[in-house]
Amino acid sequence: MDSPSRSGVFEASTDARLESFAESISFDRRLFRQDIRGSIAHADMLRTVGLISDKDFTAIRDTLKQIESEFESGAFPIRLELEDVHMHIESALIDRIGDVGRKLHTARSRNDQVSTDARIWIREALDQVDGLLEALQRSFLSRCDGDMDVILPAYTHLQRAQPVLAPHYWLAYIEKFQRDRDRIADCRRRVNQSPLGVAAVAGTTLPIDREQTAAALEFDGVTANSLDTSSDRDFILESAFVLSMIASHLSGWAEEWILWSTVEYNFIKIPQQFCTGSSIMPQKVNPDTLELTRGKSARVMGNLQTLMLLVKNLPLAYNRDLQEDKPPLFDSFDTIIAMLELAIPIVAGSVLQRERIAARIEEGYLDATTLMEWLIKKGMPQRTAHHAVGAIVGAAMAADVPLAELPLETMQQHAPEVDASILDVLGTQNAIAAFTSYGSTAPDQVRDQITAWTKRLAS
Ligand code: ARG
Repeated sequence: MDSPSRSGVFEASTDARLESFAESISFDRRLFRQDIRGSIAHADMLRTVGLISDKDFTAIRDTLKQIESEFESGAFPIRLELEDVHMHIESALIDRIGDVGRKLHTARSRNDQVSTDARIWIREALDQVDGLLEALQRSFLSRCDGDMDVILPAYTHLQRAQPVLAPHYWLAYIEKFQRDRDRIADCRRRVNQSPLGVAAVAGTTLPIDREQTAAALEFDGVTANSLDTSSDRDFILESAFVLSMIASHLSGWAEEWILWSTVEYNFIKIPQQFCTGSSIMPQKVNPDTLELTRGKSARVMGNLQTLMLLVKNLPLAYNRDLQEDKPPLFDSFDTIIAMLELAIPIVAGSVLQRERIAARIEEGYLDATTLMEWLIKKGMPQRTAHHAVGAIVGAAMAADVPLAELPLETMQQHAPEVDASILDVLGTQNAIAAFTSYGSTAPDQVRDQITAWTKRLAS
């Protein structure tokens, strides 16, 4: 059988190879709920403006509901010649209620229909991702109070740099995921504009009410230009970008914790339910969840590239190329949701290896910058102090001792300002306590941030 989209103009029937090439039902069937919701709102509007009768509307709505439950249960038959989810649903409607069903597509095209469905689907998926990001922020926050006594090395260039409180690390990720949530909120505003009623490309001569369908479908407004709307996939690309940023944050975190769980670092133990073993090496407990989080982030970023390339050469307005937007879109959401669902318990349940961390925290001269700033406070120019402390660190390295154990006289050779009170800022504990600036790892600052985030995530 030919697709109902082939009108009387066709004299030849579809080549079977085109059928399987052009179908999208295999992936866009997951839009069935949104499609049916959109169709009911559209039919209700057709009734309001007098294009169909009350009786027609009731028959359309009830039959669509029936079709929906058949989709839910998996009983709905798929036929490739019906191309996509829209034609499957409409054809079933016509099979069941005949001419009344033939009225549903009045003043509508699959072009505005698919955009409507996708926007409703995306806004729901964005809300789900936002909820998971919030749960992940809570996971990081849940660690903060208990980890206040742990000092970690902060790295730059993956070389030990300065000491920080462990919660300063957790709060850093809370900030990153908050920016992701802010991007979701911003992106959602543009997703949530109703395209329904732009029809194919130029609008319609029929007396439709776009505001009514927009309100019924909980859109914030209606799009203003039918040509733009028919061609617009910005909302899909933006979503794919937002997800790529989340993927990037998760991948960086995963990489860090993979390193932290090595024998070489030994900072953290990942809960065993999220690790796997080796088929040959009995001692192995591998952080596969984190490795796959890092690995799958590539898919999410690749999907963004696919979508960018898909749209870049399209003249206005709808082109069938756009059907190819859905596999990468769905894949990005599925992947990010799966990654977040695993990150949440891993972050909450991983165990800091406090003794191991503490045993090596005085290695690497994390307090060198604090010593330099102590000299600056004594009046030494920064460049001079930087040079002098470099020489002091060199002497400590040669003696293989931390700065706090270097004799005062050795320090004084390079910086005569040094006196016994220098010991108040040396060693990572003292160095941490010496911080004062806003946003720093100073204990008061970190506590303030924990309080602020506790309030923010509670509301
Ligand atoms: N399955 C199509 C898509 O996803 C629906 C729109 C088809 N429109 C058309 N004029 N052939 O883009």
